[in-house]
Amino acid sequence: MKKKRIIVLIGSLLLILGVVGVVYFFTRDFSAGESSTPPKTESELLEEKGVVLVNAENFVTNANSLLQKGYSADEVNQIYEYMSEANIESILASDYVDLSEFYMISNFEFAKIERYQAYQELKQIEMKDAVTQVNLNLDEPFYQTIETIEAPSSVTVLVNKSHALPSDYVPDDLVSIPSYPNLLIKEEAATPFENLLAAAKLDNITLIPYSTYRSYAKQKSIYNRYLNQDPKEVVDTYSARPGHSEHQTGLALDIRSTTLSDRLTDSDYAWVLDNSYKYGFIVRYPKDNSTITGYQEEPWHLRYIGVEHATKVHELGITYDEYYDLYLTNR
Ligand code: DAL
Ligand code: ZN
Repeated sequence: MKKKRIIVLIGSLLLILGVVGVVYFFTRDFSAGESSTPPKTESELLEEKGVVLVNAENFVTNANSLLQKGYSADEVNQIYEYMSEANIESILASDYVDLSEFYMISNFEFAKIERYQAYQELKQIEMKDAVTQVNLNLDEPFYQTIETIEAPSSVTVLVNKSHALPSDYVPDDLVSIPSYPNLLIKEEAATPFENLLAAAKLDNITLIPYSTYRSYAKQKSIYNRYLNQDPKEVVDTYSARPGHSEHQTGLALDIRSTTLSDRLTDSDYAWVLDNSYKYGFIVRYPKDNSTITGYQEEPWHLRYIGVEHATKVHELGITYDEYYDLYLTNR
């Protein structure tokens, strides 16, 4: 009997030891003994996944949030390399979107992504062109979306069918063109224009300005007069609606070759195309660009934007609308 009690006692002791052992096994601190290696930081964990650390506000939180939405580490890297702060904010506020065709497009705006895709599909053009054209609201009928221009006196102001000047805007620095005292122009364009006329003269070309600054009211009467001649959709291809004419800025001028016509001869036009940028002027409505500018070719309509920008527009061979969206828009 005594032997049996001893066996039960030993059995119980073994059972207790076993239970204690099992409890110890599952509760022991696995990192114990590795105390020389500190736990990894969130940044280190991101790096291990292939994310390149960027010194940006809330980067770790945002990068983790992008990974969680389904972006790969590589995509997170591209987003932080190419996307504007505003775009990153929008990306963070939305579900995963495949952005691969947009990373290299500097004027991309996340909010317009569906418009870009639909327009690109419709027009079968390069995505970079679709982005610029949608930014210019060219996926909509002309005059549908109209923004009021905030800095109408800026030398680089964009005036077109979706950017309107306030109806009461009158430049406060209009001056007479020295050799044509009856014609008003914004002061900063006056000397450059005289220089353009003088340079043309040296090449035996006479350029004559005939319409320069026009008030909102004047543009309205011109546009309405044309409406008596042609249907509205035709007038819209050659005359700006009031508020939408560059002439109201004092930075646009129409030139002709003789007082008998309001046209330039072909050779004079060729000279203007080759040389006007040197004096800060561009041909604002060039050939084959009516889908962008909204107007037929106007050889006679010059716009002053300054030598630096005019030279770039000339070199790039793009319209001012596109140039403005690509290089002069903060986003
Ligand atoms: N002819 C140009 C487009 C204007 O009316 O301003
Ligand atoms: Zn004009």
